[in-house]
Amino acid sequence: MIFALLGPPGVGKGTQAERISVHYGVPTISTGAMFRDAVARGTELGRIIQRYKMDKGEFVPDDVVIGAVSQRIDEPDCKPGFLLDGFPRTIPQAEALELMLVEKGRVLLGVLDFVAPIEEIVGRFSGRRICPVDGQTYHIEHQPPIQPGICDIHKVELVTRPDDAPEVVRRRLEVYQEKTSPLENYYRQRGLLCTIDATAEPETVFGRVIEVIESMRARRKLTP
Ligand code: AP5
Repeated sequence: MIFALLGPPGVGKGTQAERISVHYGVPTISTGAMFRDAVARGTELGRIIQRYKMDKGEFVPDDVVIGAVSQRIDEPDCKPGFLLDGFPRTIPQAEALELMLVEKGRVLLGVLDFVAPIEEIVGRFSGRRICPVDGQTYHIEHQPPIQPGICDIHKVELVTRPDDAPEVVRRRLEVYQEKTSPLENYYRQRGLLCTIDATAEPETVFGRVIEVIESMRARRKLTP
């Protein structure tokens, strides 16, 4: 049960990863969340990450990302499987993932590629709010907290992500086009790409995701 989630920033990967994770009981490895947490806690990885302009929409170097993911997937909770949210994001990362999975005797079942029109994505960014304690995501219209502006769980004021500023969003979308979109072809050629229309409400999108995951799992069972 190993899947990667692909798609432009703000398309809803994290929102779906959380639901898939609960549904199948496997952890989500979100490299973005992992890096934000490391920076906030001032760990060694966090100090490394701070050298790069993540807040300005620039990527963390491949070797740093690959090392962090490789270590994370060796942890015991990843034994039944895991979801990769935001990794791989470049061709060298995809090649490294392929190699590390072979070395660890694991198999990537599919890559869920979320697609939505750009104007929809921009609207999602402007309404996104996160909990400063654990990064839980809300949207002022589509996933509002019970009490406006307050995290349902930690009861603290929600904040905006620094990289959700409009000029940074523009840069993130550019970087996605340049460095990540070539992965669509990479995984299509390997028969692993599953495109998911992410324009509907989160619950509807989740239904589509489950259908695709189940068909990929069934296909795997039939493969000798
Ligand atoms: P990361 O945290 O991975 O950000 P991202 O990929 O840019 O994705 P987002 O978290 O912005 O969006 P999402 O698709 O998860 O959308 P969400 O579900 O929140 O990475 C951040 C940075 O870390 C990168 O820029 C880079 O610097 C660095 N980094 C990370 N991984 C790296 C790597 N592998 N290599 C190099 N650098 C790396 O949804 C967005 C909003 O929309 C929310 O408010 C949500 O409530 C709402 N929403 C979700 N679904 C729907 C829906 N169906 N309808 C309406 N609203 C919805």
